[in-house]
Amino acid sequence: MKIEVLEPHGMCAGVNAAIAKALKLKDVWCLHELVHNEIVIDELKDLGFKFVERIEDVPEGKTVVFSAHGVSPAVREIAKARNLKVVDTTCPFVAKVHEAAKAFAEKGLPVVILGDPKHVEVQGIAGELGVENRCRCREGGKVGVVSQTTMNADEVAKQVAELRKTYDVETMAEVCHATKERQDAVKKFCSACLSSSVSSPFGLLVLGSQTSSNSKRLKEVAEQGGAKAFMAGSMEELKEIDFSGVERLGVTSGASTPERFLMEAVKFLRNVPEHVAMIMDGNGRWATQRGKRRSEGHKAGAKTLGDVLNWCGERGIRYLTVYAFSTENWKRPKDEVEGLMALFARMLKAKEKDFMKNRVRFRMIGRRGDLSSSLLKTIEALEGKTAHFERQFIVAISYGGRAEIVDAMNAAIRKGEPITEETFRNYLYAPDVPDPDLVIRTSGELRTSNFLLWETAYSEYYFTDVLWPDFSEAELDKALAAYAQRHRRKGGV
Ligand code: FPP
Repeated sequence: MKIEVLEPHGMCAGVNAAIAKALKLKDVWCLHELVHNEIVIDELKDLGFKFVERIEDVPEGKTVVFSAHGVSPAVREIAKARNLKVVDTTCPFVAKVHEAAKAFAEKGLPVVILGDPKHVEVQGIAGELGVENRCRCREGGKVGVVSQTTMNADEVAKQVAELRKTYDVETMAEVCHATKERQDAVKKFCSACLSSSVSSPFGLLVLGSQTSSNSKRLKEVAEQGGAKAFMAGSMEELKEIDFSGVERLGVTSGASTPERFLMEAVKFLRNVPEHVAMIMDGNGRWATQRGKRRSEGHKAGAKTLGDVLNWCGERGIRYLTVYAFSTENWKRPKDEVEGLMALFARMLKAKEKDFMKNRVRFRMIGRRGDLSSSLLKTIEALEGKTAHFERQFIVAISYGGRAEIVDAMNAAIRKGEPITEETFRNYLYAPDVPDPDLVIRTSGELRTSNFLLWETAYSEYYFTDVLWPDFSEAELDKALAAYAQRHRRKGGV
């Protein structure tokens, strides 16, 4: 299934501003959900925010937040009478609709509000109107029309046209810019799918809560555009969805959906491995084929490795482990070994700025005692400086899978601890790192060469003939696409 993230998607400026404003406060009550998204609301609850449905339920003198959807003048009056400190996060576009409804009312016009009468935004707008504006409209008479800001834009236009058949309509009915833009992106995606020369069954996934009107409208627009439409408010809901039959899937999110949910969802849908390990083989052959010295091959390989680290980051891969020097590589000619050690030191020093900027944690696995004290100092300084970052780049130097197992066994024996598979893991070089999901080996060799023997028990392998210095972004994507097709049963059925 091909995944396409639609632009624009996700949180609008109004919602962002409302959350930012609320986060500055402590000991607060929110009248209604601040925004219609369960992930955001759960996090605010964890921070101690309290939510009430009636203004009367906010204790006197306390701080109350009015949500992005706005409130009626009556609510403002009660807040004043109860001596509440009001923090108003009403979206400016909603405030404009209140003003328009009030202006129509002041002109004595009956006012039609297009929207869901149960939605708090519509209730707030209705509160601007006196009884005389709520009476039945006279056929042929003048009416003022406003709408909820998160309606289906085409539906609003249709309803206004319908009203024009009977009344003299003065209208300010339009959905907000963010709602319209997101709906337009869905329409564009659907027409692109329909007009594509390779017609494949397509779908549209909306990430947003069931309480979010604009998210539900996106689903509706997708269905009107001919897509099989899906909606998920959380990762749990997403994992329940059956996408079978869909070959092209557009992904969008509602105006109150956090971006990190979209990122997690896309990662899940694309089946991106969490941990990729690489056997960077073929530097020597690459150099020989070009009449160059082997050291030139390693230099070119180091440059490729810098690019690969960035590509993996862009694809949401959390751990990248590379096999840079094995316990067996010490047998190589002295000048090659020394050249490699010098290259490691140079590269790590040169990359420090990038690691800090891109928030990458650097770690080494292998027999530290085999390294020169100056290289080890460079390595450990970098490990210390980057220790707090989440994304990890792990380099295996003087590493052997058998050596790691032996070292782990000896450490366990020293401790006198009985060994199980679980306790054994604690003695590995990087016990907290999850096992690799995917191992990529370049240069056409079809073996594991003593790399991560314990950790790769259930890893998927991808072999390519490409020599490591030529390993490209396209080749990485080929490996990830192959991985995405694998069924990892891990001994199950
Ligand atoms: C295997 O190719 C490659 C190595 C033993 C060295 C890999 C090292 C780098 C790419 C530099 C990485 C730098 C850091 C800081 C980790 P080979 O020499 O065995 O190639 P061949 O099989 O064609 O001879």
